[in-house]
Amino acid sequence: MQDFAGKVAFITGGGSGVGLGQAKVFARAGARVVIADISADHLDHALNYFRHIGTPVHGIHLDVTDRAAFERAAQETERLVGPVQLLFNTAGVSMFGPLEKSTYEDYDWMMGVNFGGVVNGIQTFVPRMIERGQGGYIVNTASMSGLIASGPAGIYCASKFAVVGLSQALRQSLDRYDIGVSVLCPGNVNTNIAECTRNRPPHLANTGYHIDADVVDAFRTIYSAGMDPVHLAEHLIEAMRRNQLYVIPYAEFSGPMQERLNLALKVIPDPKDDPGMAGREAAMTKRRAERAAESQKKAN
Ligand code: NAI
Repeated sequence: MQDFAGKVAFITGGGSGVGLGQAKVFARAGARVVIADISADHLDHALNYFRHIGTPVHGIHLDVTDRAAFERAAQETERLVGPVQLLFNTAGVSMFGPLEKSTYEDYDWMMGVNFGGVVNGIQTFVPRMIERGQGGYIVNTASMSGLIASGPAGIYCASKFAVVGLSQALRQSLDRYDIGVSVLCPGNVNTNIAECTRNRPPHLANTGYHIDADVVDAFRTIYSAGMDPVHLAEHLIEAMRRNQLYVIPYAEFSGPMQERLNLALKVIPDPKDDPGMAGREAAMTKRRAERAAESQKKAN
């Protein structure tokens, strides 16, 4: 996608950090921006900023795990701003702790927001985009933790690996509708994510992790050295112009990614040592040809 002017952009988590950076950059590119966020404070702060610079941005209070509220948010957006062509599933939370101490609530909270929120965004907006027939673009925010796992971030990594996998599959599925899909995999970004437990719902409050103020302070210090969210969104808009699947503007991950890939490549046998390969490939090729013929028949 080259031109964002006049397109309606719906950004979850748009009240702070990565999402707010996206709101600023896409509003500057002429998109009509809607920010949806669970935090009334973040929404107020962001909307005040846009009022101050004279850019009309619409705000919606939304918990991305609430499917009915997502549907209402879509209807409100269509009524007041217009049909969504750019969807940014950005809202996310993170909490680190030993996997073996995790509670079901730790799983339900992080998987619910980070993966469930993306699913709900897709379920709400993709049928609308397809029905309208004018294409579109979806950006799911994962993380480098969606490509390289680390023990203390176990649930967070699981949620982000799921977002990466879903995005890759979605890109293949939506190509025929002229809907692009990118997955944003940031490393460190200078945001408010260290404070995210403030919005953890009471019914999922039970956690197995004990995080004291020193640890939160240490996280704050790390995040404050992160990339500016506006710079991240500038990388993103360029990647969307190039229709890139992965958006990873962090040089420090080249080595670890190579290592991870090598670990897998090292255990894959050489074709000459795998006599079953030819038969399996022939079966897959046959199935692909059958599928192509089936869809050709349906199209006629
Ligand atoms: P942030 O905390 O500054 O912004 C996240 C926004 O999402 C907040 O305004 C928050 O109120 C909102 N939010 C949280 N739960 C929500 C829910 N259930 N429904 C609706 N809105 C909700 O954090 P940040 O860093 O901007 O996070 C955005 C995304 O970037 C997340 O998906 C995160 O995993 C990802 N990310 C962040 C990195 C970082 O270093 N900050 C690194 C890699 C990925």
